[in-house]
Amino acid sequence: MQNIALWIAIIGAIIVALAFAKVIAQSGQTEAADLIAKRSYRWRARLFVATLVAGVVITGMTLTPFPHDVRAGEVTRVIDVKGRQWSWDVSDKSVKVGETIEFRVTAEDVSHGFGLYAPDGTMVAQIQAMPGFTNKARYQFTKAGTYRILCMEYCGLVHHGMTADIVASAAAPTL
Ligand code: CUA
Repeated sequence: MQNIALWIAIIGAIIVALAFAKVIAQSGQTEAADLIAKRSYRWRARLFVATLVAGVVITGMTLTPFPHDVRAGEVTRVIDVKGRQWSWDVSDKSVKVGETIEFRVTAEDVSHGFGLYAPDGTMVAQIQAMPGFTNKARYQFTKAGTYRILCMEYCGLVHHGMTADIVASAAAPTL
């Protein structure tokens, strides 16, 4: 991803440099202003349409895997979460595998970010923790292990220390 960004930047810089070179090379020539305007405006319309199409396509593609409110079926239990400088108050820190939890997230002082990470380190749910609001994020726990809540928004000196663990244990066998 970093390499792709680097190449896009390099190619973009080359295109800009070529445009400058072309302008400098043609600076001695004269041409009627209305002809130049007509040609340029045609390009402006094309660029507008191309940018619009690219914007819609890129937005659609990148929003699909967004771990914001993953569809997780029927909610089996609610867990309340309150963020404050600099800890999480979690009403229950143990869940069973298979449970779909609705996290109701708020904050006591300033804005925080609730980010839920699976035992392998991938983010599986996230929502803003805001004073005066209760935001909901759902997640179905599919694997046993220790999940971790991290603060996703810089909130002061010990922002990095604002973590909490939720332990998912295997569901009790039905007899
Ligand atoms: Cu709370 Cu960063």
